[in-house]
Amino acid sequence: MDTTIDAGDAVALRGLLGRFCTGVTVVATENTAGDVVGFACQSFSALSLDPPMILISVMRTSNTLPVLLEREEFTVSVLGEDAHEISATVGSRAADKFARVPLTRTGSGLPALRDPLAWFDCSVARVVEGGDHIVVLADVREAGPTECDARPLLYYNGGYGGLARTEPATVTPERELLTAMSAYTTDDWF
Ligand SMILES: Cc1cc2nc3c(=O)[nH]c(=O)nc-3n(C[C@H](O)[C@H](O)[C@H](O)COP(=O)(O)O)c2cc1C
Repeated sequence: MDTTIDAGDAVALRGLLGRFCTGVTVVATENTAGDVVGFACQSFSALSLDPPMILISVMRTSNTLPVLLEREEFTVSVLGEDAHEISATVGSRAADKFARVPLTRTGSGLPALRDPLAWFDCSVARVVEGGDHIVVLADVREAGPTECDARPLLYYNGGYGGLARTEPATVTPERELLTAMSAYTTDDWF
């Protein structure tokens, strides 16, 4: 049986890529008229601790992209497990899609979600072309909150979910976990 897909088959490739489970974030910024613009984004990644950097990948057709590139700054808010409606709304092209999304402002005045698991206030450092997407490498200027015991929203196979269980911190102390993770690599990881 041939189990290899044709990588040029976008539907089949998308299906395979959907088997990589991710969290969900909301990327947001503001246009010159003062309107909040943004989109749901799963292709967010930690990039560097020193200097602090993250990256996101944005579809070329995104309405947010030109604003983000012109303004050269944006926020990323990591969604909690109850936020699938926010993800679906912000992940649509609906007009005024932030109207009913609870927002706050970061120190630089940018819009971010209220009470996310984590938020990052970023400035664009570099832009890399990536096929039908643009990869945005960004410096983290400000981030928070310091404490959070909420659970993440997950996106898998085109649907939303949550963590089935989490081990209490006492079972896997952070240092033990870091040691276990570093057993698989010669480099330090987050
Ligand atoms: C869970 C989820 C994850 C998404 N991840 C991304 C992503 O990583 N990059 C991207 O460009 N679009 C992503 N999208 C699609 C955009 O959110 C969607 O196309 C949105 O309508 C774009 O809005 P805009 O045109 O106002 O920027 C995602 C959508 C959902 C629902």
